[in-house]
Amino acid sequence: MARRRIIAGNWKMNKTPSEAVALCAELKDLVKNDDVDVVYCVPAIDIVPVVEAVKGTNVHVGAENFYIVDSGAFTGEISAPMLKDAGVEYVIIGHSERRDIFGENDILINQKVKKAFASGLTPILCCGESLALRKADTYKEWIERQITWDLDGVTADQVKKLVIAYEPIWAIGTGETATADQAQEVCGLIRSLIAKLYDQATADEVRIQYGGSMNAGNAAELLSKPDIDGGLIGGASLKPDFGKIVNA
Ligand code: PGA
Repeated sequence: MARRRIIAGNWKMNKTPSEAVALCAELKDLVKNDDVDVVYCVPAIDIVPVVEAVKGTNVHVGAENFYIVDSGAFTGEISAPMLKDAGVEYVIIGHSERRDIFGENDILINQKVKKAFASGLTPILCCGESLALRKADTYKEWIERQITWDLDGVTADQVKKLVIAYEPIWAIGTGETATADQAQEVCGLIRSLIAKLYDQATADEVRIQYGGSMNAGNAAELLSKPDIDGGLIGGASLKPDFGKIVNA
């Protein structure tokens, strides 16, 4: 079946609110494409102005993180109802920077996936191996374990709406992209795992992105692979190049 392509920018901790609005204006015409879901995942403080700035365009807004409780004494956190009320549709969960720098584990990530669905947000669930695991040739088992844990208790109907981003950590922000064949191998593996954990119909619907130094030069080849349905783009999402990736 034909899956709709999804190209998401992960702005990370970049752009002040006024810079964010300026970037939206700069990218507005470049990211036009009715056949692709275009998403800007932006820092929490940029969400409100970015939702306003992309009104009337084809761009959807995502968050980069949230916490699993609706409200209360959780200093510094932001909740799913807050994101929904602000106009957010997607949320990145389990990015390697959250796992490695902020200590998020698969138990919390699994809770976040379930909470996002319960709140009407679409998770962009990230997985990916370190260079050490790639070199040790244990990356396939690692990815399978991450996905299996992160989707524990998630229903097939939910997985059909899920976006999974395969992001090898050694390719993030390093300029070293996985080859299209390396990316396809793991994205195909993830789809087979979904078929095993759920069923083929669910595997056929789940959208799988590649992420890690995707840019205007390598996007078309990566996106031509059968199990790569889109990209999660860091550095290149902050530049006019992002429009080229959307239209690759
Ligand atoms: P990059 O980041 O495109 O800058 O490598 C991707 C990501 O971390 O989502």
